[in-house]
Amino acid sequence: MITIFLIWGIVLTMCCYLWLIFGIRRRRMGEPPLENGLIPYLGCALKFGANPLEFLRANQRKHGHVFTCKLMGKYVHFITNSLSYHKVLCHGKYFDWKKFHFTTSAKAFGHRSIDPSDGNTTENINDTFIKTLQGHALNSLTETMMENLQLILRPPFLLKSKSTEWVTEGMYSFCYRVMFEAGYLTLFGRDLTSQDAQSALILENLDNFKQFDKVFPALAAGLPIHVFKTAFQAREKLAEGLRHENLHRRDQVSELIRLRMFLNDTLSTFDDLEKAKTHLAILWASQANTIPATFWSLFQMIRNPEARKAATEEVNTALEKAGQRISFEGDPIYLNQMQLNDLPVLDSIIKEALRLSSASLNIRTAKEDFTLHLEEGSYNIRKDDIIALYPQLMHLDPEIYPDPLTFKYDRYLDENRKTKTTFYSNGVKLKYYYMPFGSGATICPGRLFAVQEIKQFLILMLLYFEIELVESHVKCPPLDQSRAGLGILPPLNDIDFKYKLKYL
Ligand code: HEM
Ligand SMILES: *[C@@H]1O[C@H](CO)[C@@H](O)[C@H](O)[C@H]1NC(C)=O
Ligand SMILES: *[C@@H]1O[C@H](CO)[C@@H](O)[C@H](O)[C@H]1NC(C)=O
Ligand SMILES: *[C@@H]1O[C@H](CO)[C@@H](O)[C@H](O)[C@H]1NC(C)=O
Repeated sequence: MITIFLIWGIVLTMCCYLWLIFGIRRRRMGEPPLENGLIPYLGCALKFGANPLEFLRANQRKHGHVFTCKLMGKYVHFITNSLSYHKVLCHGKYFDWKKFHFTTSAKAFGHRSIDPSDGNTTENINDTFIKTLQGHALNSLTETMMENLQLILRPPFLLKSKSTEWVTEGMYSFCYRVMFEAGYLTLFGRDLTSQDAQSALILENLDNFKQFDKVFPALAAGLPIHVFKTAFQAREKLAEGLRHENLHRRDQVSELIRLRMFLNDTLSTFDDLEKAKTHLAILWASQANTIPATFWSLFQMIRNPEARKAATEEVNTALEKAGQRISFEGDPIYLNQMQLNDLPVLDSIIKEALRLSSASLNIRTAKEDFTLHLEEGSYNIRKDDIIALYPQLMHLDPEIYPDPLTFKYDRYLDENRKTKTTFYSNGVKLKYYYMPFGSGATICPGRLFAVQEIKQFLILMLLYFEIELVESHVKCPPLDQSRAGLGILPPLNDIDFKYKLKYL
């Protein structure tokens, strides 16, 4: 017995030595300072995961603006100086922008690689996104969204009953419900057969989406979905609803989904369900950030009397200029792209709300060994290492944004009440000062649509409803840090508010 323990002891000690000698990376000449962390494989992942902002700030104090951390077996170079962001983006030719995204998407949504170089598909998904979410396509997308929002916000039964009662609801669950339904219908079309069946289906989808989205941080961190039985079932059901046989029965399917349905993908080895899972990835991308972003925009606007007043004035003026009038029985309101783009106050409110709630991690993989030239010096980077930006550090930097934790609705307005674009760090004008949508080649292709749909939502809320917080001096809810890295963080707790239709 004793000898067995002794042998095991020796083996374990040997392994530890071997790990110490070969497993730990050593810093080479010209490389950034290195934090290996204490735990094999994980490295600093637990500390990073617990509070990324604090972890990065602590390392910044210790090492300066550029340092390397081992995270989940990867070496991640963090560039934390906002003045260097544009320099990082100049090194595009050394970066593989897509590798990380494709792998994560395949793992989380359960499809095989959508990287054309893996031979499963001929679709260039990047081209598809740009073609169908921006430019001309954006017109019809926003138009449909505005119709769908009004379908939900002024449902016939509410109007018929002429209800003047206040309705109380959690603001986050309200935003979740409205944006999910409107966004789902806008991307995947309406069910022609029956309104009731459609509502039931959307509710079921919403439920499944919540279940699935809840475990998304774990999936992104690399855990297999089979660990989470409910979430797995929810994902499969969501995908089922996006099979082509189901989509064919729907009307007003967006150009994005139509293009992907009728793609002549001759080499495709995807079956119907797998294709549906790639649609599900798009559903997730279109909702997971938009929902909390909508909440924060509405909450901050309602909570700040000045913001609400300025926004109301702007919206009323815009409506008048567009020659539109609100009516509960008549045509829905419609503002075109140009009219929506000319709302600097709403723009500033949304930007400021996202500045305070965004915690995305921007990642690219090094394709080869190269030297990264930054403002503060040059650093050698090894092939397959990761270069990361964490823009929350910039968004909460008091040098750039004085009093950074305070919501100032006009922070992004200049002295002429037009959109402000000049921000400084250390007296130097910043090229990048606002990055909730990422940057470079992987910047969110839906960002223009996202801002339009949030604006449309705010406009309709202001025009159709009287809104009050149940507790008028309610504290701002804390951010749910468990989703740090994924984008806009939701509030940890919901905030009750009440609303009723105006002018009834
Ligand atoms: C406020 C709302 C939104 C935020 C904050 C947001 C943010 C982001 C971020 C940070 C990324 C990753 C960028 C990177 O890796 O550098 C991303 C990717 C993406 N977003 Fe958004 N997004 C929003 C809304 C939307 C909407 C409404 C759509 C579509 C209708 C959309 C579609 C996508 C897609 C398809 C990708 C993946 C792009 C790729 O990997 O090629 N997003 N988004
Ligand atoms: C498809 O993708 C998988 C990885 O997801 C890969 O192993 C396989 O080689 C690819 N190609 C084909 C033709 O299946
Ligand atoms: C695919 O091919 C069919 C028939 O050849 C054609 O009608 C359709 O327009 C093509 N679709 C796309 C997206 O190119
Ligand atoms: C996606 O397309 C846009 C526009 O064509 C381009 O600027 C960008 O670099 C592309 N991104 C990737 C990852 O290929």
